[in-house]
Amino acid sequence: MTQNTLDSSLAVVILAAGQGTRMKSSLPKVLHRIGGRPLVGHVLDTARDLAPQRVLVVVRHERDQVAEAVLGVSPEVVVVDQDEIPGTGRAVEVALDQLDGFDGDVLVLSGDVPLLDADTLAALIDAHRTAAAAATLLSAIVDDPTGYGRVIRDADGGVDRIVEQKDATAEEAAAREINAGVYVFRATELRTELARVGTANAQGEKYLTDVIGLLRGDGLTVSATVAADVAVTLGVNDRAQLADAGKRLNARTVRRWQLAGVTIQDPDTTWIDVTATLAPDVTVLPNTHIQRATTIAAGAVVGPDTSLVDCEVGEDARVTRTDATLAVIGAGATVGPFAYLRPGAVLGDGGKVGTFVEIKNSTIGADSKVPHLSYIGDTTIGERVNLGAGAITANYDDLAKHRTEIGDEVHSGSHNVFVAPVRIGDGAKTGAGAVIRKDVPAGALALSVAPQRNVEGWVEKNRPGTGAADVAARARSAQKADDGAQQEG
Ligand code: UD1
Ligand code: CA
Repeated sequence: MTQNTLDSSLAVVILAAGQGTRMKSSLPKVLHRIGGRPLVGHVLDTARDLAPQRVLVVVRHERDQVAEAVLGVSPEVVVVDQDEIPGTGRAVEVALDQLDGFDGDVLVLSGDVPLLDADTLAALIDAHRTAAAAATLLSAIVDDPTGYGRVIRDADGGVDRIVEQKDATAEEAAAREINAGVYVFRATELRTELARVGTANAQGEKYLTDVIGLLRGDGLTVSATVAADVAVTLGVNDRAQLADAGKRLNARTVRRWQLAGVTIQDPDTTWIDVTATLAPDVTVLPNTHIQRATTIAAGAVVGPDTSLVDCEVGEDARVTRTDATLAVIGAGATVGPFAYLRPGAVLGDGGKVGTFVEIKNSTIGADSKVPHLSYIGDTTIGERVNLGAGAITANYDDLAKHRTEIGDEVHSGSHNVFVAPVRIGDGAKTGAGAVIRKDVPAGALALSVAPQRNVEGWVEKNRPGTGAADVAARARSAQKADDGAQQEG
């Protein structure tokens, strides 16, 4: 869902100052990735879809690292520093200080709740405004509420307060309605109540959740919307939850592409970053990872067992059992099985990179083929070229990298070494086993191997009594008899 017109009475505050102790990581929790993007990046994306007047992100732990990642995704965001007073309530309070004079609604999101979608949030804001509530929170009914704050309802079924797990009595802890950590507040009341929240609780923190009870105590309306899909409220606090959220996000991405016309044979083993783009009638076979800014054009078949990172795959191309990064694969080209395309590999339309072939920083022209067992680096290859099996460009002389230039319609023999810098002219051919150290003019045949010499009878003389000597002796006498018969006849 994308709202185009700015909602001038909406500000979004994203909490991302916590350390994420339970991740046991040197990387701040909100920078751990799912679907190719940091957790907080997903939250920023969703926030942007709501077209708020302002987005603020509260940081503290590893402040610079988090701020840089946030501004990388959304340069328009206001980064706010939390001070040494801990807790989600304090985080929101410092953000409010930056919203002086703002009296609209404040949507509070957590940097560690990545699966929330804009539709769920738009519905929450709608419900909040329709009820003219002072606060509206998103809750969920779960089988296992461990770790979450519990929503405690009064006798009439209204929201009474939220109790954190660590502060809950056994009876309160038994409640199965949890606080998703997502709320809409009227800014004015939020400001007033936060000033009253203390830190006298099990964690010694200023809890945002205490605001709910305070608002109710003042006789103001607080409502809760129960999420239809519990999964959208999933918070990431440890690595198991990270993997779970990643899997759910991927399932959503896979389904989105399936409904857009992409055949995905095995959703369980297909991983697609949220930043990748696939055209209708693409086919993705099992065990395939499509990452970062990869784009795949119509009719292409990718996989099985393939990883594409920042690649461009052309129409009707076929990419099998391949690992590729920053590579361009032309329309109708075939790659693999077992190909390795490194940054700067560009394969022209109808071209082929075959089995056990590595390509780096090289352009291979249209309809040209490097079919077997080759390394091609820092090379330009023209059109309709065929390199024999085992072609190696020796691009590095232990001081610098040099280029190999191969013209159009060149055919090289098997097992050639091209010692760069070197140029092979249009239409030239090279013999099997050639080591090409000098330029080859257009149309020439280059041979660099010494003429072959056969030493007759070597095996019988030097390896007498071996099987090889026996069969050789037999073959040679049969040959002699044959030659004699032919001379007589
Ligand atoms: C919080 C809620 C809990 C809810 C749960 C939902 C409180 C007190 N509790 O608990 O009711 O069920 O989320 O996921 O709000 N943060 C800051 N500054 C801080 C502390 C935290 O910015 O001083 C940020 C964290 O980076 C994180 C978010 O706030 O993005 C939530 O913090 P976390 O410590 O994970 O809270 P929970 O214990 O999960
Ligand atoms: Ca959390």
